[in-house]
Amino acid sequence: MESAHILIGLSGSIAAFKIATLVSSLTKQGYEVRVIETKHAASFIGPLTLAALSHNEVYMDEFGGTNEAMIPHIELSRWADVFLIAPADANILAKAAHGLGDDLLSSTILAATCPMLAAPAMNVHMYENPATQANLQTLHERGWTIIDPAYGMLACQEAGKGRMAEPEELEKNIKAILENKTAANEAPAESSIDQKPLAGKRVVVSAGPTQEALDPVRFLSNHSSGKQGYAIAKAAHDLGAEATLVSGPVSLEAPEGVRVVPIVSALDLEKAMIEEAKDADFIIMAAAVADYRFKDHHEQKMKKTGDVLTLELVKNPDILAGLGQNKKPGQILCGFAMETENLDTNALVKLESKNCDLLIANNLRTKGAGFQTDTNVVSLLFPDHTEHLGLQSKEALGHTILKTMLALQKGEDPNVIVR
Ligand code: PMT
Repeated sequence: MESAHILIGLSGSIAAFKIATLVSSLTKQGYEVRVIETKHAASFIGPLTLAALSHNEVYMDEFGGTNEAMIPHIELSRWADVFLIAPADANILAKAAHGLGDDLLSSTILAATCPMLAAPAMNVHMYENPATQANLQTLHERGWTIIDPAYGMLACQEAGKGRMAEPEELEKNIKAILENKTAANEAPAESSIDQKPLAGKRVVVSAGPTQEALDPVRFLSNHSSGKQGYAIAKAAHDLGAEATLVSGPVSLEAPEGVRVVPIVSALDLEKAMIEEAKDADFIIMAAAVADYRFKDHHEQKMKKTGDVLTLELVKNPDILAGLGQNKKPGQILCGFAMETENLDTNALVKLESKNCDLLIANNLRTKGAGFQTDTNVVSLLFPDHTEHLGLQSKEALGHTILKTMLALQKGEDPNVIVR
């Protein structure tokens, strides 16, 4: 994406000087770069410097400046393919997390629909303040990429975490987002998949919802479309594996070359997974399984009775945990976690309690993530660390998951794939 549009917003921090190097490097590589500065940012690095390096005017004013017809925050937000806030001081992070728009930078953040990145820079106590940490968590859950600051001696003469990441690190993150964005727009071309690293491997993927019947007419279910599981199965086939999909009721076509085992309920899914897992190398539980089923199944349609109806539910087996307990030597097990709060903490409990090698955590509240979408925003949890990935297509994520599982099976460093 040589001519990708990169918008950079600077807030007030001494780290602003590093942005000159970033803007210069990106412009030299042919990217289109535009810069917004807050009033305080302009005290640290003058707009003239950044205008000269970006070959564009620097935007500071909420109104049109030289061009009266322009509404800068709308035009800039529409123009951007990716938007980096760097340095991101505590104030702009708070404004972004709470939806305030009282200057050009914060209004443009509010209007932006492109992938967002932030590189925090501030005093260590401001960074560690629970308010700042909560704001960073909120932005992360909305799909922002947060580029962690480094430890070191800070401009305020205190040592600690708060030094903004170096320009090279910012550039690497911008490029990773642009690559993911391209992948999200274009499914990988058939011709580009000339390597078959999963040749000889058997991959079993569960997908879609389960339906727990009450009677011949009604059931208990969820919103899973099956897109994530189907995309992983397609990626497995494209990478050369023998791929099997154990699929709940969905309206998707089976990917070419993938064997489909249809199931309806969680009990059906358990039976099929135990069978399919026997000689599988990689097992991926992307299905959204009902945790409970009705205690009684009615053979005939239930009749309407009083104003209140109480139905009893009983717990379904935890299929993933069962697969984790009976893992075969060399088998790699990947679970998913769908959360609406405390994503990483809740997902870590699932990774450990279900004996998974890898767990993919997605948050229903994050834009572009979870049910029904063609894209996902996930964290990859390993027993010893977590990696946060930006917005990407479900198929691109499938490739990453499978290559990560292959690295785990070979005892190689999975981070080479993820980063
Ligand atoms: O199908 P899409 O519309 O594309 O949406 C994709 C998705 C959101 C369904 C998918 O990305 C996802 O998150 N799938 C897992 C959803 C889920 O059931 O999460 P959970 O946190 O409730 O379960 C944790 C893990 O245990 C999952 O791997 C699940 O398959 C498994 N599980 C859950 C309950 C149960 N009784 N048995 C299980 O094996």
